[in-house]
Amino acid sequence: MSQSSHIIAVIGQKGGPGKTTLAINLASAATEQGFVSVIIDLDPQATAANWKDRRDQLKEPALQTPAVISTAPGRLRQAIETAEQNAADCIIIDSPGKADNLAMLAATYADLVLVPVEPRMSNLETIEGVHTLIQAVDIKQRSERSRSQNPTAFVVLNKLHPSATTQVDSIKRMIADVFPQIPVCPHHLSQLDIFGTSQDIGKSVLDDQPKGRAAEEIRQLYKFIIDRTALEKPHHVQNRKSAKRA
Ligand SMILES: Nc1ncnc2c1ncn2[C@@H]1O[C@H](COP(=O)(O)OP(=O)(O)OP(=O)(O)O)[C@@H](O)[C@H]1O
Ligand SMILES: [Mg+2]
Repeated sequence: MSQSSHIIAVIGQKGGPGKTTLAINLASAATEQGFVSVIIDLDPQATAANWKDRRDQLKEPALQTPAVISTAPGRLRQAIETAEQNAADCIIIDSPGKADNLAMLAATYADLVLVPVEPRMSNLETIEGVHTLIQAVDIKQRSERSRSQNPTAFVVLNKLHPSATTQVDSIKRMIADVFPQIPVCPHHLSQLDIFGTSQDIGKSVLDDQPKGRAAEEIRQLYKFIIDRTALEKPHHVQNRKSAKRA
């Protein structure tokens, strides 16, 4: 298996905190930046794959579209290889909620793990369990891809009240104090209807309202993630930029 791509796993122990929302929008942010991005959908509900079907039906050639590979867990490795053979720079694995074995499998291949949680105790209380899963990944399989012992992970707060500003910092501090196992990402996503409505019509928030608040939150989160990865500008973007300068 080659190691050309950067792999992000979106996992958790709850249903509905925003794993697929993160996967779709971060993949779209990577595409917007000129990267070849691929979502691998590990969820039998196939929410990301269904989103891609709706997107294809829009028949809007200007839309840049991440590829989506829907796969059974036993074929995850092959799905990653297929994505890499197709020059994927960024692979995002979307996993189902309440399936610890699949969360752990996704984390096994990941450089970075994102754990979206809603700001509710029932969600926050899962952070320790998710940490335990990440610690239990198959080190032998990771070493085959020259991955470090355990992937880096961040909790991503999702669905915060859009007008919460000062409270947000205290919520993040409280989580870091009470649930210190996984660091909290400094960037969060607000509860904004467009996250749902854009997905319903096969779009990302970046396509639907490129200058809107949700798009800005996704870009900030994406930048934070990329700054923590080895993902460099894709060659064709560098070449395009150098050609413009010449
Ligand atoms: N920041 C947000 N603002 C508003 N709605 C959101 C936000 N994030 C997610 N949602 C909505 O919450 C619902 C669940 O989100 P999503 O499907 O991404 O969660 P999930 O973790 O993938 O769920 P599952 O565990 O079932 O796979 C969806 O209807 C989605 O549109
Ligand atoms: Mg989902």
